[in-house]
Amino acid sequence: MINGERTISRPLRWGMVGGGRTGQVGYKHRTGALRDGTYQLVAGAFDLDAERGRDFGVNLGLEADRCYATYQELITEEAAREDGVEVVSIATPNFTHYEITKASLEAGLHVICEKPLFFTVAECKEIERLAEEKGLIVGVTYGFTGHPLVHQMAAMVKKGMLGDIRIVDMQYTHGFNSGDDVGAGEAVKWRTNPKSAGPTFVLGDIGTHLYYLSEIVLPHMKIEKLLCDRKAFIPTRAPLEDHATVLMHYDNGARGRIWVSSVDAGNMGSQRYRFVGSKASVEWSDSRPDQLIYEVQGEPNRTLHHGMPYLEEESLAIDRMGALHTEGLGDSWSNIYLWIAQAIDAKNRGDEAFLKTHHYPGIKAGTEGVRWLENCVRSADAGSVWVDFK
Ligand code: NAI
Repeated sequence: MINGERTISRPLRWGMVGGGRTGQVGYKHRTGALRDGTYQLVAGAFDLDAERGRDFGVNLGLEADRCYATYQELITEEAAREDGVEVVSIATPNFTHYEITKASLEAGLHVICEKPLFFTVAECKEIERLAEEKGLIVGVTYGFTGHPLVHQMAAMVKKGMLGDIRIVDMQYTHGFNSGDDVGAGEAVKWRTNPKSAGPTFVLGDIGTHLYYLSEIVLPHMKIEKLLCDRKAFIPTRAPLEDHATVLMHYDNGARGRIWVSSVDAGNMGSQRYRFVGSKASVEWSDSRPDQLIYEVQGEPNRTLHHGMPYLEEESLAIDRMGALHTEGLGDSWSNIYLWIAQAIDAKNRGDEAFLKTHHYPGIKAGTEGVRWLENCVRSADAGSVWVDFK
């Protein structure tokens, strides 16, 4: 169980790019980072509006002269200080991820970047090489993938409790973009423009969460081919999609489906995952994040509760609230940030042996998400045909 005791020798000096007052995801980063004594927020370039960004940073408790107008200024000014930042989080629109990550790594900073990591696998590979060369960590933040019940599912699959995995069925849908975009805010505008969002809308925005989660639960399974059907129900969003279905064939013969949509009008359940094996199934939804449904063929269905001693050690070790009390998205983010802090600490100490076995969402998690997107787009744009996964 995690109880907030510090697991690294000192807090990392942390800065944020983006995630300002009006940003959607910024507070999730701070909720994740500022919990276990592993990060201290000391600087930021929080906002495109420099004045608002400075005011916001001061309200977060930062010194005014460490609230910068641009990320370039943050990097330069902080490099000149003995107590300058050593890791930055990037919580800005997609099209900025690559350039900010590159500049930060070149300045010797570890990076924690939002998904989808970049636009192309080629960019990911280039950054992977740069991070390796500089001896720096790149972490990626996929929201629910630190939840104890996600890791319970992974442990159950690993132990063979479900038998051979046959069916993967995942859904992340909501209805917030059911109407047109007339008068839409910034976060919708950049998401529906290929120049700022990249080659996808909902596939990258929410589908990549599902794909990484499936990699955690089913690390032994690889996709052999996939078929993606995508559509913009609101025509002004084309060529990007507000709805997509992806069918997948895995190397063990399993079949998979991922459904992502932002025009699923009225749906507030959002995420649901079901993994079906030859003996049993597990199902989890973020509308009941404390519960995992475990169904063994021929037996009464079971509801497993987070934090209970009958769960696997992999799940109990990362539980925070304890059974009976809600464990949710904020707790998951805290685990993700903690794991990345431990990776950074190990990298700083040159402890490669620790890094070899340590679980955290690193650059490969980002690269594989972008690879999945590239394959989805290749299939969809060829007329929704089956393509070999490359
Ligand atoms: P947003 O549009 O709501 O906020 C963006 C923030 O970044 C704003 O504060 C804006 O002023 C600032 N900003 C933009 N460009 C900047 C720059 N060059 N320098 C400094 N600040 C800059 O966007 P949202 O929804 O917060 O998304 C940001 C990123 O986070 C996206 O990549 C998105 O895909 C990802 N995201 C991830 C989530 C997750 O669960 N991991 C959830 C929501 C978003």
